[in-house]
Amino acid sequence: MSDLLTKANAYVAAHRENVDSRYRPLYHQSVPIGWLNDPNGFSFFRGEYHLFYQFHPYDSVWGPMHWGHWASKDLLHWREMPVAMAPDMPFDSGGCFSGTALAQGDKLMIFYTGVTAPDETGKRLQQQCVAETLDGIHMEKYPENPVIGRAQLPEGANPYDFRDPKIFKAEAGYGMILASQGPSGGQLLLYRSDDLYTWRYAGVFMDGFGVMSECPDYFALDGREAVIACAIRMPEEGTRWPNDRPVVSVIGHTDKETGLFQAEEPWCAVDCGLDFYAPQTMEAPDGRRILIGWMLLPGRQVPTHTLGHGWAGVMTLPRECHIRQGRLYQQPIRELEALRRNEKAWADQQIQGDVRLAGMEGSHIELDMELDLSEAPRLSLYLMESGAERFEIAYDTKAQVLRVDKSALGFPEVGDYRETQSAVSVPLKEGKLRLQVFVDTCAVEVFANDGQVALASLAHPKSQGTGVSFHVEGICRAGSIRKWDVSMA
Ligand code: FRU
Repeated sequence: MSDLLTKANAYVAAHRENVDSRYRPLYHQSVPIGWLNDPNGFSFFRGEYHLFYQFHPYDSVWGPMHWGHWASKDLLHWREMPVAMAPDMPFDSGGCFSGTALAQGDKLMIFYTGVTAPDETGKRLQQQCVAETLDGIHMEKYPENPVIGRAQLPEGANPYDFRDPKIFKAEAGYGMILASQGPSGGQLLLYRSDDLYTWRYAGVFMDGFGVMSECPDYFALDGREAVIACAIRMPEEGTRWPNDRPVVSVIGHTDKETGLFQAEEPWCAVDCGLDFYAPQTMEAPDGRRILIGWMLLPGRQVPTHTLGHGWAGVMTLPRECHIRQGRLYQQPIRELEALRRNEKAWADQQIQGDVRLAGMEGSHIELDMELDLSEAPRLSLYLMESGAERFEIAYDTKAQVLRVDKSALGFPEVGDYRETQSAVSVPLKEGKLRLQVFVDTCAVEVFANDGQVALASLAHPKSQGTGVSFHVEGICRAGSIRKWDVSMA
């Protein structure tokens, strides 16, 4: 084990009990100590799911990137594994950035971006590297890394913004898609290989991702093909994007000859909440396509950092993806139902004005409701409520807009400009609304109309309120409301 890896593991072991876990979620994965960003290498290998992540153990802010690691048999209960990679080689001494995994026979192969130490101009090269593991724990970095360096970049592509390999098995050989900054901004580049070590450039897979793209994904699903990528500084288009750094999904197909992607449907935001970024998907052994994302709008300061709690970083729940009506749908995986306790159910309720249902509260809860809003111009559902402090989910029937709002929470959002955004609206055209809501200490996930829209948001109520209530203008007819406590025990 390298010195840096030993040091990281020893640091985590020695200091993990010192963090303040007041805001730690119960059933969302969160970093044990320090900082977490993107999910990495999400895969199934040797009978278990593996989820790696961008990890800076030593502080609750971004820093030299390691890969943290969890393993799980059921996608619910995750075991913490030793730190998988540290920035300890000349080709990655500036950081082991994001990447993906491919199970190959008895090996799990990891493709990631090695960032170098700064050159004479202070810039760091981003190059693509390989690491392999037989036991899923100990990584061997390929000594001849990088496998894709600046010499393999097409003209006009920036070698300092070239990262986040998505590896996949193609009809013939293998493909890799990379985030890149080209002459016209954020693009995805395609590389091909027969042996996974020797790669050749094969063209611009897609472009149009703001000034720079990040964390691409690509997969076949439900008879179609989808691309997901983050777009930095995406031009504004009304309420189409939740912020200027949206994660977008595009449905289309790859050309048989060129392997390049052609969009067939309008681009959509993958998640319209306040805190969602850098998702990865994997195919489960039963064929389901499962997505996990990082819950933060990059650039925001996380209250657990500001408060000195010693940790910052939460993942979304695993979501099952489908393509319906030309767009990506996401639903919480059905395994989560095993965590439900103490069901409370209300049928055929008329909700008017301010209503609080007996027993409907908590900081680790799941709600599922079917609401007819044809006679209700506006509905608000308040969560984490205590006095005036609350997180709001609202539907405006006239405007046909669903909104999440954390501006009434005690900690103001801190950041430069867009990072202070504390409310977001998404168009949703339905008279009937199905809302699935997951509340987990500092995380709120909303799935509307069977996964047509998903909204992930961090929420840190100062008073750690547990109240849930409705405020309805007009009459809301609730065909069914169900509430469960969520328990890991
Ligand atoms: C996205 C990202 C990736 C990069 C990683 C570094 O959040 O910027 O593009 O690989 O984080 O931690």
